[in-house]
Amino acid sequence: MPAKVRKAVFPAAGLGTRFLPATKAQPKEMLPLVDKPIIQYGVEEAMHSGIQNIIIVTGRGKSAIEDHFDVSFELEYMLESRGKKELLSIVRGVSDMIDVSYIRQKEALGLGHAVLRASELVGPEPFAVVLADDVIEAEVPCLRQLIDIYEFFCAPVLAVMEVPHDMISHYGVVDADPISHNGSKDRVYRIRDLVEKPKASEAPSNLAIIGRYILTPEIFNSIGSIQPGAGSEIQLTDALKHLLRSRPIYAYRFEGTRYDAGDKLGFLKATVEFALRRHDLGAQFREYLKGLQL
Ligand code: G1P
Repeated sequence: MPAKVRKAVFPAAGLGTRFLPATKAQPKEMLPLVDKPIIQYGVEEAMHSGIQNIIIVTGRGKSAIEDHFDVSFELEYMLESRGKKELLSIVRGVSDMIDVSYIRQKEALGLGHAVLRASELVGPEPFAVVLADDVIEAEVPCLRQLIDIYEFFCAPVLAVMEVPHDMISHYGVVDADPISHNGSKDRVYRIRDLVEKPKASEAPSNLAIIGRYILTPEIFNSIGSIQPGAGSEIQLTDALKHLLRSRPIYAYRFEGTRYDAGDKLGFLKATVEFALRRHDLGAQFREYLKGLQL
């Protein structure tokens, strides 16, 4: 039996330059999609996948994230005394949700470096990595899908999806062979090679890594062994390439819809679609959009 995946690491120390000026004084992870901060979607996905320990790798200016998952005594007191029971349960739900630990990444030296910062808190067990910018809507939470594959193969698993040729250079890309699993031949792949942000003309496939990973603790050694790569940063993709020399790694083409909430257009698309799906807002919002006569 493989060890259970109990912990998820959320790298959240990035500077959020794609969203300036909104992110000058607030973390991008706290930008709301409708009325929930982006990072909460990822945390809920982890919870619904059976993970209870959340490790957030933060940096300077990110204290709003810590406050968000903490108890807000004044706010709860005010809501209670005004009889706002529904709001009170929403606010309490956030802090009751999970057990969160924080570790600082003092310099933004890359995703691999951020994950390495969490090594002591993770310890000698498998763990998930969630890039909160990638918001994934799915019937079975994306992380749960990956954990099922991890439990079957007892090996690291990365989420991948097909992306158009002109977008591939924004991603880590895998060179991989499809393998049959549970009667399907186009979901699970055994990885042959990986490359971070290749030129479109040099990309080995159109399968891009999306921000969900199930990793095993050997990745920490690999991260410690590599040199800075794309963007002069310590890349998780490069560490995975290093690890691939000594053990198999799988990719999983997950079922669900992914929104790049770290990109302005992706953020707008997610906002509109999430609002349309809401019971309390959807109908009115739909009428409003129809009225725009685009
Ligand atoms: C990171 C990873 C990249 C992956 C992407 C998914 O890149 O380094 O391999 O494809 O997330 O969102 P970033 O978007 O942080 O530059």
